[in-house]
Amino acid sequence: MTKQYRITLLPGDGIGPEIMAVAVQVLQVIGKQMELAFEFQEALIGGSAIDATGVPLPPETLETCRQSDAVLLAAIGGTQWDSLPAEIRPEQGLLGLRAGLSLFANLRPAKILPQLIDASTLKREVVEGVDIMVVRELTGGVYFGQPKGIFHTEAGERRGVNTMVYTESEIDRIGRVAFDIARKRNRKLCSVDKANVLEVSQLWRDRMNHLAKDYPDVALSHLYVDNAAMQLVRAPRQFDTIVTSNLFGDILSDAAAMLTGSIGMLPSASLGSSGPGVFEPVHGSAPDIAGQDKANPLAQVLSAAMMLRYGLNEPGAAVRIEQAVMKVLDQGNRTGDILSEGMTLLGCRAMGAALLDVIQPSS
Ligand code: IPM
Ligand code: MG
Repeated sequence: MTKQYRITLLPGDGIGPEIMAVAVQVLQVIGKQMELAFEFQEALIGGSAIDATGVPLPPETLETCRQSDAVLLAAIGGTQWDSLPAEIRPEQGLLGLRAGLSLFANLRPAKILPQLIDASTLKREVVEGVDIMVVRELTGGVYFGQPKGIFHTEAGERRGVNTMVYTESEIDRIGRVAFDIARKRNRKLCSVDKANVLEVSQLWRDRMNHLAKDYPDVALSHLYVDNAAMQLVRAPRQFDTIVTSNLFGDILSDAAAMLTGSIGMLPSASLGSSGPGVFEPVHGSAPDIAGQDKANPLAQVLSAAMMLRYGLNEPGAAVRIEQAVMKVLDQGNRTGDILSEGMTLLGCRAMGAALLDVIQPSS
């Protein structure tokens, strides 16, 4: 029997609509093969939402997302919205979506693909075999802690305030997600904090140690965030699963992504404890190449695979997509961002066509 899924599409800004179109085509073909019927609804977010409605996350968008089984997001932002006041910048659309859907767990895999190893700026012997999963807390910490704002002191000076705060239950729920993921990987979990300075990190470390008792099969270690940044570029293979807070995870996941040399290839998942997750590429909206058919759609396509695996529990369909991506790379197909000597340069649409050819060979 065909299974039905409602998917909200948020193409967003820049290259978003181009890469989303490829992912949707791939999903449609995979859906036919695997008896999955996707009902797609498109909604506005980010700069395009600001232009159309004045706000980066219109209430209708959040409502549409809430009523769907999963949300596939492309990218938001662009220079034309950079000078707007902070509350109505495109980024607020993303933060509002995370908070509005309670997506506290952000999964950011950084895996070196053998076909692209020379795209890394690090030496082959350092990055070969790297396969890291960064689990970033996404709805707490200094991003959302109160008080926050720019206030005036009695002396008439302005004072900018953010608060890094975590409750035990917030730490425990992200901790459990990370332990569960580590269990399905290589049973090594590294918790990253700044417990030598920050009380909030001392609590974080204490709770991670406490949770570890329920996961005797997972080896838990701790690193301070500055050392973790250093270790990531020095010897990244030592890491399997990393769990960390919102801000540290923002920074470390970019560093981890860059190890692979191909940020255009990396998907991510944001999950809550119930309700739809949001699946999106790690890269941004690349306004400099928007509308030129140059974008790499593969991270968007791999985000659709993550959606199938983590959002819809359809691992079989996810594997098909992942294998198709590997195959097009094996065939030597490359977009400009991952091009190397001897490979074939394709545009966004042609890369999509190459994928569809692999998934559904036209006999
Ligand atoms: C990310 C981005 C966002 C963040 C911005 C765009 C708000 O950097 O998803 O990593 O800081 O979380
Ligand atoms: Mg970031």
